[in-house]
Amino acid sequence: MAKTAKLEIDGKIYELPVVIGSEGEHAVDVSKLRADTGYITLDDGYGNTGSCVSNVTFIDGEKGILRYRGYPIEELAEKSTFIETAFLIIYGHLPTSAELRRFSDLLTQNELLHEGMKFHFEGFPPNAHPMAILSSMINAASCYHPRLMEGYNPSHFDLQAARLISKVRTIAAFAYRKSRGLPINYPKPVYKYTANLLHMMFSEPYQDYDLKPEVVRALDLIFLLHADHEQNCSTSTVRMIASSRANLFACAAGGVCALWGPLHGGANQAVIEMLEEIHKEGDDGSKFIVAAKDKKSGRRLMGFGHRVYKNYDPRAKIIKEQCDKILNSLHITDPLLDIAKRLEDAALHDPYFIERKLYPNVDFYSGIIMRAIGIPVEMFTVIFAIGRMPGWIANYKEIMDEKTSRIYRPRQIYTGATERKYLPIEQRTGA
Ligand code: CMC
Repeated sequence: MAKTAKLEIDGKIYELPVVIGSEGEHAVDVSKLRADTGYITLDDGYGNTGSCVSNVTFIDGEKGILRYRGYPIEELAEKSTFIETAFLIIYGHLPTSAELRRFSDLLTQNELLHEGMKFHFEGFPPNAHPMAILSSMINAASCYHPRLMEGYNPSHFDLQAARLISKVRTIAAFAYRKSRGLPINYPKPVYKYTANLLHMMFSEPYQDYDLKPEVVRALDLIFLLHADHEQNCSTSTVRMIASSRANLFACAAGGVCALWGPLHGGANQAVIEMLEEIHKEGDDGSKFIVAAKDKKSGRRLMGFGHRVYKNYDPRAKIIKEQCDKILNSLHITDPLLDIAKRLEDAALHDPYFIERKLYPNVDFYSGIIMRAIGIPVEMFTVIFAIGRMPGWIANYKEIMDEKTSRIYRPRQIYTGATERKYLPIEQRTGA
């Protein structure tokens, strides 16, 4: 017999269906609650709300487990590449050689931007934040592909998805070059995805960038580790926009804006800024830890804590190891890494962080790797956004393929003024 939950309201008992996920997660289905009882559920910040059922990514925050389409993140990090993982996330299975070749070819065929887009880049002031440029230019790029505007069509989907993943990388590199007043570099079809980004960012007209395999691998790993993370703020934003049947590029542009905030993807930039500040002040981290525990200080230990993980973020473990590896191989000593390690050690032994189950998240060490490979701090969240595209695309596809999906439209409990009369301006006394 199907499991149900009982809810008693005003002495009346209602039976609610229970939905059970493939990993044993339970949800009480309240979709008919208002129709049956007149009540809605209230869940500030959606901490207890399952907004959808999804086949893409599984997280067990208590145990620190992350799997894309069933594959543990640790195994993918060791054996896969960003592009293979992107295929897995979007299409649900690991690609065969022929599928991977076709996907890579589509990425290569779509790597150029329409030349008209150059004029859009010209319109931004020199110090424009690359996340603002990225979001605007993704939307601008959609204007050059009228079929996108026709809405979701499964027979164009492969092309639109590859187009987005590929062009986002070119836009990111152009945004960086523009912000530095440097000439843009066109993508080279001979380079694979991540190498091509490094080439477009760092080659000079007189000299190609030296593509060190360990640097390409480190950045590719960062992309792979960011590729999806179930219903986080930006992915939920993408799903929200997709639910209105907006086109894929419009959804991704909205996702970029949601990702930008310092409590979400912007945390990787905020972590480095925090570490730089600690370094500048000559603090070994201990003063900052005190401030981070004091709510009145307005400070938080950036790169720590997570809504879902109440254990070490499995991505942070992998990134920390990679951080040591790449710094060693490039012979770099970064004082910020020492500060980060001291902060982590102090926090993991401090009752404030222990009681609240606050552990390092994916953003705590990723910035140190990006710094080591020469990516400027304002580009960190752009790197996160490039990595997250497959997850957004897979979630967009899920919404579009679901025959019964409806527009996302939460309700609210109104706590404002009750009905009042409009007063002519001369009779008003102010608030
Ligand atoms: N430093 C100090 N205290 C913290 C921190 C932190 N980083 N994170 C949470 N707390 C405290 C918070 O003050 C609260 O304390 P109390 O119970 O006494 O009021 C308690 O821990 C629970 O925090 P919350 O804000 O209710 O938790 P949340 O689930 O709403 O927020 C979070 C999660 C990630 C926004 C938060 O932990 C945070 O602000 N972390 C720093 C920013 C960050 O690193 N963000 C990246 C997240 S991972 C990648 C991504 O999603 O993009």
